[in-house]
Amino acid sequence: MSILNENYTLYNGVSIPKIGFGTWQIPNEQAFTSVTDALRAGYRHIDTALAYDNEEGVGRAIRESGLRREEVFITSKLPAEIKGYDKALEAFERTFRNLGTLPDLYLIHAPWPWADKGGDYNAQNVQSWKAFEKLYNNGRIRAIGVSNFSPANIQALLDNCEIVPMANQIAFHVGRTQEEYVAFCNKHNILVEAYSPLATGRALGDKQLNKIAQSYGVSVAQLLIRFALQRGTLPLPKTTTFERMVENTQIEKFSISTSDMEILNSIKSEYR
Ligand SMILES: NC(=O)c1ccc[n+]([C@@H]2O[C@H](COP(=O)([O-])OP(=O)(O)OC[C@H]3O[C@@H](n4cnc5c(N)ncnc54)[C@H](OP(=O)(O)O)[C@@H]3O)[C@@H](O)[C@H]2O)c1
Repeated sequence: MSILNENYTLYNGVSIPKIGFGTWQIPNEQAFTSVTDALRAGYRHIDTALAYDNEEGVGRAIRESGLRREEVFITSKLPAEIKGYDKALEAFERTFRNLGTLPDLYLIHAPWPWADKGGDYNAQNVQSWKAFEKLYNNGRIRAIGVSNFSPANIQALLDNCEIVPMANQIAFHVGRTQEEYVAFCNKHNILVEAYSPLATGRALGDKQLNKIAQSYGVSVAQLLIRFALQRGTLPLPKTTTFERMVENTQIEKFSISTSDMEILNSIKSEYR
C-alpha cells in the first residue's frame, strides 16, 4: 500500500497521514504552486507555520484543490517568539485568517525564541499551553503539540497543565536521531514528527548512504524517508520539484533490513 494512504493515530484518536509535505523556505507565492503539486502527487498532510509566511498560499492551494477540507490534514505553529496565553490565542486567529480554515494540529514552534536558543521559557510555555488547551477543549483544533521540545520542556507542561502534547516535531534524520527525545515521547505516547528528514538536503550526497541506497535500488532521499518511518516517526520532506514529491513517496517496494537499520542508527554525522 502506498505510504500516502497510511496513517498514524494520535493518542486522542485523531488520524494523521504518515507522511507530510514540508513547506519551510517556500515563499508564499510559490507555496500555492508547490502545495497544489503536492496534493496532485497525493500528499494529504501539509506542514506550515505562521513564521514561514506562506500560510495564505498553503490555504488557497487546499481550498482550490477540489478536495474536501477533511481530506487534508494541516499543521501550523505558534511562532517561537510569541509566548503567553493571550498572545497565543491572537496568533492562532491570525493563522486561521491566513489559511482561511482551521488547522488540524497546532504546535508551539520552539520552547525558546530562536535568538535565545536554549533559554528557559518553561513558565511562558505553560501559559501558551493553557491557551492551546482552551482551543482544544472548545473544539477549535483537533490536536495540539509542541516542536523542538526537550524532555524537560515537555515535563514542565506535564507538571503544570492538563493535556499531554499529542506530537513533538523535532529534527530527526540519519546522523541525528535524538534518542533521549524519542524515548521520552514514546513513553508518553507523543508522536514524533521527523522534520528535516533529508538533513535539509545535506545528507543526499553522502557516499555511505548512496551505497546503502543503491543496494536497495532506491535514492538516498527514499532511503532516509523509509528510515524515519521504520523508526516510527512521521517524516516531513520538503521539495519544490514535482518529480521529487512523487519520488519521496514511492517507498513501498522496499524495507530496510535490521542490520542496515543498525548501521544507519549508528551514524553520528550531522551532515553540516
Ligand atoms: N519545527 C521546526 O522547527 C522545523 C524546522 C525545520 C523544518 N521543519 C519542517 O520540516 C520540513 C522538511 O525539512 P527541511 O525543509 O529542513 O528539509 P528536508 O526535507 O530534510 O530537505 C529538503 C531539501 O532536500 C531537497 N530534496 C527533497 N527531496 C529530494 C529528492 N528526492 N532528491 C534530491 N533532493 C531533494 C530539497 O530541494 P528542492 O526543494 O530543490 O527539491 C531541499 O533542498 C520543513 O519544510 C518544515 O515543514 C520544521
